[in-house]
Amino acid sequence: MVVSLSRRGNVEPFHAMDVLAEANRLKAQGVPVISMAVGQPSDPAPARVRAAAAKALEDGRIGYTDTLGLAGLRKAIAEHYADHYGLDVDPGRIAVTTGSSAAFNLAFLAMFDPGDRVAIAAPGYPAYRNIMAALGIDVVEIELGDEAYLHAGHLEAAHREKPLKGVLFASPANPTGAVIPADELSALIRTAEALGIAVISDEIYHRLAYAAPDTTALRYSNSVTVINSFSKYYCMTGWRIGWMVLPEELVRPVERIAQSLYISPPELSQIAAIEAFAATEELEAVKGRYAWNRELLMKRLPELGFPLAAPMDGAFYAFCDVTRHTNDSMAFARRMLAEAHVAATPGRDFDTQAGHRTMRFSYAGSHDDMVEALARIERWLR
Ligand SMILES: Cc1ncc(COP(=O)(O)O)c(C=O)c1O
Repeated sequence: MVVSLSRRGNVEPFHAMDVLAEANRLKAQGVPVISMAVGQPSDPAPARVRAAAAKALEDGRIGYTDTLGLAGLRKAIAEHYADHYGLDVDPGRIAVTTGSSAAFNLAFLAMFDPGDRVAIAAPGYPAYRNIMAALGIDVVEIELGDEAYLHAGHLEAAHREKPLKGVLFASPANPTGAVIPADELSALIRTAEALGIAVISDEIYHRLAYAAPDTTALRYSNSVTVINSFSKYYCMTGWRIGWMVLPEELVRPVERIAQSLYISPPELSQIAAIEAFAATEELEAVKGRYAWNRELLMKRLPELGFPLAAPMDGAFYAFCDVTRHTNDSMAFARRMLAEAHVAATPGRDFDTQAGHRTMRFSYAGSHDDMVEALARIERWLR
């Protein structure tokens, strides 16, 4: 028998998912693991979202939809841009996707060719690097060092070294939680446009910022590709539903590629997601709990010898320097899981160069779990 293996399959593992798998294995054995490893809300989707899904199931027929999504959902997303940002967005520029993960795949395929240089920040969300690497795109990682976020100066310097075709950033970011201030975001986009660099803005953590109102990249340009999702603020990770707002020229190329790759996003999740924008009261209560957890971690983690390596402006992550305890955050995370039964994500996922010095703690869980996890870590370190 001949088994063919492509070089793409050698892509770096997503270590957070490996930690989650180990945590799940321990849980299945009855070990009371608290997971601060994976960025997912512990709350279910809002009640009205689940009610809409239940009704759709009762009605029975779940099928393919238009490749770019149900008209009703594209309209609801466009209305969200009017309500939340005061922006007029044509529903025709919105593509509904199977989570933002599929949106990345589609954006990269429609925007870049193999060998094109595309910049991302390090630390950053690992799937950007892994998907681009699998597609043969030349990933240019810009090390942020002591700086919290990517800015125009970084882009100019990287472009000077060798021209870039694109740049992708997230604000609020994963793993740092850092938010790019509005004036810096505007300068970054203006600089990219002046240099002929295409912009992808990952806005999946919008509505989860604690200090400043959200600013979408669409405020500054209609040539940017914006990616967003129902996974985080809307508590719908498992529903696999997200969206993009595309420049006019990209709508048809994305549609053509999506027709063959995905046919359509899941109809059940689309029907349910239409309701998500009307669930603000329920979702703001969830966000209130994140804010409470954030206060606790912001105080306690540095006390335990984990100083913050970035400001906790948004999302639900504390990104910490762990060098007071270890120089190998991967081994440290494994030991913490095995001995203290607390799972957190080693920095290696987010930064191949400096990640051995950092760890990410997700505070999307319950407040009681956060209190207990910190107590366990304190006992374990003693
Ligand atoms: C920055 C960022 N973008 C995208 C995703 C993927 O989300 P989904 O595919 O569930 O929309 C994540 C998930 O953790 C993320 O942190």
